[in-house]
Amino acid sequence: MDRFESVNREKKNLITVKNVSRVFPVPGGEFRALNDISVEIPQGTFVILKGRSGSGKTTLMNLIGTLDDPTEGEIFYDGRKIGELSERERENLRRREFGFVFQSVSLIPSLSVQQNVEFSMRLAGEKNEKTLSSRAQECLKLVGLLGRKEHMPSELSGGEQQRVAIAKALAPRPRLLLADEPTAELDSAMAAAVTELFQKMSEQEGVTVLMTTHDAGLMGAAQMLIELENGEQING
Ligand SMILES: Nc1ncnc2c1ncn2[C@@H]1O[C@H](COP(=O)(O)OP(=O)(O)O)[C@@H](O)[C@H]1O
Ligand SMILES: [Mg+2]
Repeated sequence: MDRFESVNREKKNLITVKNVSRVFPVPGGEFRALNDISVEIPQGTFVILKGRSGSGKTTLMNLIGTLDDPTEGEIFYDGRKIGELSERERENLRRREFGFVFQSVSLIPSLSVQQNVEFSMRLAGEKNEKTLSSRAQECLKLVGLLGRKEHMPSELSGGEQQRVAIAKALAPRPRLLLADEPTAELDSAMAAAVTELFQKMSEQEGVTVLMTTHDAGLMGAAQMLIELENGEQING
């Protein structure tokens, strides 16, 4: 715990989740997917959000990623209340400051691997062709797929496509990387390599990484663990 406290003292919080609940209407009533969650995430931290299937991990990621809104409580990003931002401001955050990696990979099938990585930078506003190309190649190298840059997504395995998706998320240099079960479809060696890559991104580039997993073998890489059970936060 000492490590957390010293991290907290040295760095400011990028994300503050304050007494957040998310209740979904369901036939015949409502379902409390998250109940009174409070978390502070210092900038540059590699956080693993763990918990069984159905514990509320994706729901919490979606709230932090501005894809959904809490029914109670507040979320602050870089000191700003997410709930008070306009849809345009949220979209800007998602494009320019957040990187998303989902369990099921969504590459654009008609673009090559490199063009896919460049595309996320274009969305974030980068127009310089040289920068696009060199940064895309740098990120593909990082995930070990530079040699496949000219390939089409359909020519890659599932695990390789996931690594391209990670390169794509990293390319625009996000401040916050939200990775929801990114290793679920990878073999254990690749899952460990991807987790190590996230660890390196946070240590070397100061990226704040929030990754969900239920793989106990990966937890050791995290600087901070948040555990959910049936929508409740478990301490420790
Ligand atoms: N839109 C929704 N409507 C109703 N229930 C939902 C909705 N989204 C999620 N849930 C429920 O909330 C709980 C948590 O879901 P989720 O956050 O996806 O869990 P996890 O990602 O940990 O597997 C689950 O029981 C799920 O069925
Ligand atoms: Mg989930």
